[in-house]
Amino acid sequence: MRIFPNTKWMGHQLIFFKDIDSSNDTAKSFIQLGKNLSCGSVIIANKQNKGRGRFQRIWHSPASVNLYFSILIKPELDQKNWPQMTFPMSLGILEATQKYSKDVHLKWPNDILVQGKKICGILLELEKDWVIVGVGYNVNQKEFQAGLHLPATSLFLETGKQIDRFRILLEILQHIEKWYEYFCKHGFESIREIWIEKSHLLQRGIVLTDGRHVTVTGLNDDGSLCYMGEDYKKGALYSSDEICSWL
Ligand code: BTN
Repeated sequence: MRIFPNTKWMGHQLIFFKDIDSSNDTAKSFIQLGKNLSCGSVIIANKQNKGRGRFQRIWHSPASVNLYFSILIKPELDQKNWPQMTFPMSLGILEATQKYSKDVHLKWPNDILVQGKKICGILLELEKDWVIVGVGYNVNQKEFQAGLHLPATSLFLETGKQIDRFRILLEILQHIEKWYEYFCKHGFESIREIWIEKSHLLQRGIVLTDGRHVTVTGLNDDGSLCYMGEDYKKGALYSSDEICSWL
């Protein structure tokens, strides 16, 4: 089977591995070794032995059921804007997922939820002048272990159908290319409201880890979450581990 996305540049170099520790780590070592990589190359693992999530959480990566991949992008953007890249990436994945479910939302800063359950997580890492966009997407997994950070789901559990992993991969790459190009051309401001509209964010109450109850009011220019406290004081959150729970 020939796998090639219908894109301008994204995913034109697809590198498959049967069994690796982590596609993000493989991407990092390729960059360190100075391998000849084009912008938009994708490293795909059939299985990961040490799949990593954010905050050093384990990303369980059983063989042959889900998608585990890392996109290598050499941004032509000011480095201060690199962390914002998570927003066009998640918008692309959301759009690809909407073909399979109507109830898809974004969870700040980089999760995709279907019916309120996590179907995909993104781990953005920097290495030299590259951004590595690691994506774990649950496609055909039928059961998830108890005690996960968030309840999880898969396309199979949502649709009752086995989905071809490579088909959804190519769809995701197409949508990501579109949103990434839009973001590069028009800036974060151009996608901020679209992202917020697709998110679970606005006017939600949250409890912070320091016990305060606050209300989310939007996203700041740097992608941080802005909130208003009960005392009407404004503040910003830079990491979801500052959030104890969503109300
Ligand atoms: C998260 O939700 O915490 C992010 C999960 C990211 C998992 C993906 S799977 C492919 C890539 N390789 C890794 O080790 N992690 C990311």
